[in-house]
Amino acid sequence: MQELTLKVQRYLPGKDKKSYIQEFTIPLRQGMTVLDGLIYIKENMDNTLSFRSSCRMGICGSCGMLINNFPMLACHTPVEELGTDRIEVRSLPNFPIIRDLVADLDSLFEKHKSIKPYVVSSDTEEAEEPTAEFLQSGQELEGYVQFAYCVKCGLCMAACPTVATDALFLGPQPLGQAYRYCTDRRDAGVEERFHQADSRHGVWLCHLAGACSEACPKGVDPALAIQLLKRAMIFDSLRLRKKKKPASIAQPLAESRPKIAVPEFTVK
Ligand code: FES
Repeated sequence: MQELTLKVQRYLPGKDKKSYIQEFTIPLRQGMTVLDGLIYIKENMDNTLSFRSSCRMGICGSCGMLINNFPMLACHTPVEELGTDRIEVRSLPNFPIIRDLVADLDSLFEKHKSIKPYVVSSDTEEAEEPTAEFLQSGQELEGYVQFAYCVKCGLCMAACPTVATDALFLGPQPLGQAYRYCTDRRDAGVEERFHQADSRHGVWLCHLAGACSEACPKGVDPALAIQLLKRAMIFDSLRLRKKKKPASIAQPLAESRPKIAVPEFTVK
């Protein structure tokens, strides 16, 4: 039987002064992911091993870790793609460790919250008591949809050399999302986000290393979003930014769509 050696970072606060690496040798199954390997260890060898996971399909963003020195989602990383039977797994860099492979992502969520990652509505009446949907064309959607695939896994922040040297730098995830909402015609929060991004630890600290886009498991390309955000902010400061035409409201569904007949039950 083929075997896999997993070198896992361990750290138990209150007991360990600093983290250390523990080696586990486990049976290697076909199609096994790094997360499968960690689950095998937890179920069969050491149930104190701590790591996060949920969906196991690259959607929830909770299993981000440093795998052979590169930030990756453990559930999305098949062992055979790494081309080795010795894998080192560590907690995500640029974040404090809570325990073993569990990084403290609070700073990411605080920064994300600070750029208002939602559609800020200028029509407060409609926002509070919606009567219908805001209209949006396919072309408008295409302007930001790539950036909307972010799963907030923190891999881009872990890869970013600027976050590594300035913990207060907003970073690729929040700045990428700032651009995503600024381009949305339903949104009226551009000025607030520009103000936030224009701070001492904001968008201008990015020197386009591109490591964030390389690490992103969803193809978001935060480095591109940051450059587009910079451009929009420069245009704004030169008073050349085209104001967005606010999205109009669709007709209420009940009036605009023909009624669909409900099929008869086929089973009594
Ligand atoms: Fe959800 Fe890996 S477990 S992204």
